[in-house]
Amino acid sequence: MHSFCEDLEEVLLTEAQIQRRLDELAAQLRSDYAGRELTMVGLLTGSVLFVADLVRRLPGRLRLDFLGISSYRGETASSNRLNVTKELQLDVRDRDVLVVDDIWDTGATLARARDLIVQMGPRSLKFCVLLEKDVRLQTDVVADYVGFRIPARFVIGYGLDYQERYRNLPCIGVLKPDVLSSRAAADTRRRG
Ligand code: IMP
Ligand code: MG
Repeated sequence: MHSFCEDLEEVLLTEAQIQRRLDELAAQLRSDYAGRELTMVGLLTGSVLFVADLVRRLPGRLRLDFLGISSYRGETASSNRLNVTKELQLDVRDRDVLVVDDIWDTGATLARARDLIVQMGPRSLKFCVLLEKDVRLQTDVVADYVGFRIPARFVIGYGLDYQERYRNLPCIGVLKPDVLSSRAAADTRRRG
């Protein structure tokens, strides 16, 4: 099996760095939500590794659900057309809701999640993202918990994808330019 690590130009965050930071984030959440039951809402698909590692560090009463918001991407730039691909199953009325996502880029995805959940009448609503990109904030939503602030580059790994690949890497990195261009070329050939 071809190892994805060969496709990386640079590792931005190692597995150990990510896991250490999760210990800190989880400690903050345990303290902020002490005595309250958290309803965690992970945004599909990018948040799944982050959510799985986070909930294992939150031993109290907790409910977990996922919300699918897709932006027809597959490329390396954000698009504004957002579609709900999976609705919430849990009732979040009067609950303490924490929305968890992989990355805050333009903020459009989190703004959409907020608009959907606010209508359901939660007791409180906060946002937690593993990554926040520099200077791309275009909305009024703020992230209450941020794992790492990173430069505005396209990153993959630990849930983040390029054309649905690389989500399974335990670290976060930047792809080699020739990988980006050769994949794009291969996909054009397949479509053509
Ligand atoms: P936003 O709506 O522009 O904030 O984008 C958030 C979504 O875009 C994330 O949930 C990711 O799925 C995707 N995204 C944004 N930046 C990156 C990146 O650098 N790598 C992979 N996916 C990204
Ligand atoms: Mg995503």
